[in-house]
Amino acid sequence: MSATFLIEFIRMIWHDAGTYDAKTKTGGPNGSIRNELNHVANKGLNIAVDLCEPVKDRHPKISYADLYQLAGVVAVEVTGGPTIDFVQEEWIPLFLPKKGAFQMPNKVGPPHLKDVFYRMGLSDKDIVALSGAHTLGRAHPERSGFEGAWTKDPLKFDNSYFVELLNKESEEGLLKLPTDKALVEDPKFRRYVEIYAKDEEAFFADYAASHKKLSELGFTPSPSGFKATTAKTRTILAQSAVGVAVATAVVLLSYFYEVHRRVK
Ligand code: HEM
Repeated sequence: MSATFLIEFIRMIWHDAGTYDAKTKTGGPNGSIRNELNHVANKGLNIAVDLCEPVKDRHPKISYADLYQLAGVVAVEVTGGPTIDFVQEEWIPLFLPKKGAFQMPNKVGPPHLKDVFYRMGLSDKDIVALSGAHTLGRAHPERSGFEGAWTKDPLKFDNSYFVELLNKESEEGLLKLPTDKALVEDPKFRRYVEIYAKDEEAFFADYAASHKKLSELGFTPSPSGFKATTAKTRTILAQSAVGVAVATAVVLLSYFYEVHRRVK
């Protein structure tokens, strides 16, 4: 198993959540991605979905929605990124998948990118911070038609995506999608790009907040729900055997840490 597979979880949770429509309150991170693998934008995501199956088999009580989002949170942390709050939710089947599934932003220029993310109820800051996930991973011609990585170390979650975006002399072969380029074209986007390129801590803080927002699109916290727990506190809480969310998080964390350790 390769560490690159962990990164697939992050793309998976984005494509699962990215169907959300704030106006109609449909779509969202409901775990429906596993039924949408034939959709053209989702090529290659079968790997991440399949990797989650053994965990689901062992812990059938966790919903697919939660399992996937938790895998995304763990993948960010394991690759060196920030710890993201995770709240396990009972998924109420109000959030029907949108017809046509995930629509990847695919036009040139900032307005299209804004349209897609505003539809989800996300902001300019969210767009830039979340695009920073391209600090990880690479594009595969057989999936998207694009090829290459955005950064020199695509297995490490850091702020180098933003450094490369601003670097006119950027290394030959590093990838810049039209939507990546849009981030330096629009002054509101660019402001954040410049901050994140200089200040990794600011990027990590904003990324963690925006990722949490993405993973909870359409959720209303249940009055009796679990408190938000970070991956770190989850580990501590599990030692005193509190809560199914906590226990599941620990199982997942150890599973993915083990995968990571074996790869190294
Ligand atoms: C802003 C609009 C976005 C566009 C147009 C876009 C587009 C793409 C494309 C074309 C790929 C390459 C797929 C392949 O060929 O394997 C990719 C990979 C990836 N995307 Fe995005 N993406 C966007 C936003 C996001 C967001 C918001 C996240 C997560 C928060 C994300 C996470 C990833 C990751 C982790 C990969 C690497 C996957 C791998 O290594 O196999 N992307 N994206």
